[in-house]
Amino acid sequence: MKVLIVYAHPEPRSLNGALREIAVKELMAQGHEVQVSDLYADGWKSQVDRADFPSLARDERLITVAASKKAFEAGTLTSDVKAEIEKLLWADALILQFPLWWFTMPAILKGWVDRVFAYGFAYGVGEHSDRRWGDRYGEGTLAGKRAMLIVTAGGWEEHYAARGVNGPIDDLLFPINHGILYYPGYDVLPPFVVYRADGFDESRLGPVAEHLRKRMRTLFTTRPIPYRQQNAGDYLIPSMQLRPGLGDPGATGFGLHVDNEGGVNER
Ligand SMILES: Cc1cc2nc3c(=O)[nH]c(=O)nc-3n(C[C@H](O)[C@H](O)[C@H](O)COP(=O)(O)O)c2cc1C
Repeated sequence: MKVLIVYAHPEPRSLNGALREIAVKELMAQGHEVQVSDLYADGWKSQVDRADFPSLARDERLITVAASKKAFEAGTLTSDVKAEIEKLLWADALILQFPLWWFTMPAILKGWVDRVFAYGFAYGVGEHSDRRWGDRYGEGTLAGKRAMLIVTAGGWEEHYAARGVNGPIDDLLFPINHGILYYPGYDVLPPFVVYRADGFDESRLGPVAEHLRKRMRTLFTTRPIPYRQQNAGDYLIPSMQLRPGLGDPGATGFGLHVDNEGGVNER
């Protein structure tokens, strides 16, 4: 199979650098083809601006969504963005690897998403009607492919537990896992998270490396997070509200969109 790792760390001699090497080596040992987009090493441009849309007239107002749609359809996105889109279409699995910075991904990786996940490619796909609301959340261009995060965090695992002061890790990563990866269709696997990553003691690397190797060996067999599909019956359309009776009564928030019960559909 084919695997793309999008790697966002400025220093190869970091814990992230070591984890990347371990992951690549194990994937290749399993016979997979691997490509790495090393955003810092490649000098990735992280902000969306006019330069992303060379066909926009000089005096034309930049409406980013419209410019993205037009450029994707016309094939006039910049060559760095087009190359990343080709890699995403090539890969059966996508891994985003990054250190947790201010409770989310580093800006360079967010900028990769902002620029590469173009209108018509990752969003704005499919029919919008009273029956369905676009091909998203489990459907879309990247459906049938898998994605997962490799994340390092300075905080302790307990700090990210259900009652931990930082908030639960699944909540913090929800906008990435659900909003960025599930949205264009990926089946999203549980993340691989290394806690207490600052001043990471070499003596701790052994078990972490073994766990990561195992996750790489099971990349194509691990059960994805059972997010609810938008167009499969769990939501009212067009209000996009979860149907009454689904989810724990009184529950609110991100966890509602994980189907721990099987939903109304047999899937
Ligand atoms: C700008 C910045 C923001 C950070 N924010 C967080 C954070 O929100 N939560 C956390 O647990 N650790 C945070 N950290 C710690 C990093 O997650 C930690 O340094 C990194 O995972 C260590 O891996 P590395 O050695 O590969 O860089 C932050 C570090 C930096 C530099």
